Amino acid sequence: MKIKMVNNYQEMSNDAADLIEDQLKKKKASILGLATGGTPEGLYEELVRRYHLGRIDFQEVQTFNLDEYIGLPQDHPQSYAFYMWSRFFSQVNIDPARIHLPFSTTAGDAEAATAYDKQLKQAGGIDLQLLGIGENGHIGFNEPSSFLWADTHYAELSRETMEANARFFAWREDVPQQAITMGMAPILQARHIVLMASGKEKAHAVKEMLCSPISPWHPASFLQLHSKVEVVLDAEAAAELPPHVFAYK
Ligand code: F6R
Repeated sequence: MKIKMVNNYQEMSNDAADLIEDQLKKKKASILGLATGGTPEGLYEELVRRYHLGRIDFQEVQTFNLDEYIGLPQDHPQSYAFYMWSRFFSQVNIDPARIHLPFSTTAGDAEAATAYDKQLKQAGGIDLQLLGIGENGHIGFNEPSSFLWADTHYAELSRETMEANARFFAWREDVPQQAITMGMAPILQARHIVLMASGKEKAHAVKEMLCSPISPWHPASFLQLHSKVEVVLDAEAAAELPPHVFAYK
């Protein structure tokens, strides 16, 4: 696990963009696992900029998003599908047939979850998985619990997650309570993981992820078991880390 601290949000976004650019140089037809939320907004902007400069080509790339709210139509401005199309997909040369977004209108629909896992498997798994982290240590919407799910599943969002996500909605009551999310298996099977975190609200979760015993009560701690994780942090998110973690290889 490599831990890198940078000065600010822009540098974090540029660094993550460098890692994606390198990945696509090595393999044009890479399978990217993508995240949404506030953390990667700057990264998508930077990737679009590099695409327009002719530095990155997305034509052969396939994407799998981590998660989606249940109860929002895909054209709702706060849906993750809308987020991805407006910020990224519509602005680069990705083939729409290679874009995969989990979607389900009801939490009980096992078919949608199974179909998503099947697509992931058929694609051959993820080359590079991009992650943010929740203040409670969730990755995707794998929320802290006494057990974690391997496969795509329906998640009841925790109170902390709904509170954190309320900033994107006009009313607290509008925040969806459920989501469909990739499980822990495809995340941990990704050949390379890049996790970004920015801001003091993430400092505690980042410390727990790297310095606490592995536990389903802190899903991101499972990344300690992965041999190729790069964590890019701004100074605020890194504030609680002991100096020795920066020497991890
Ligand atoms: C989003 C996702 C979530 C977010 C996390 C942090 O697709 O999978 O795990 O990465 O909730 O969200 P932000 O970046 O808004 O702080």
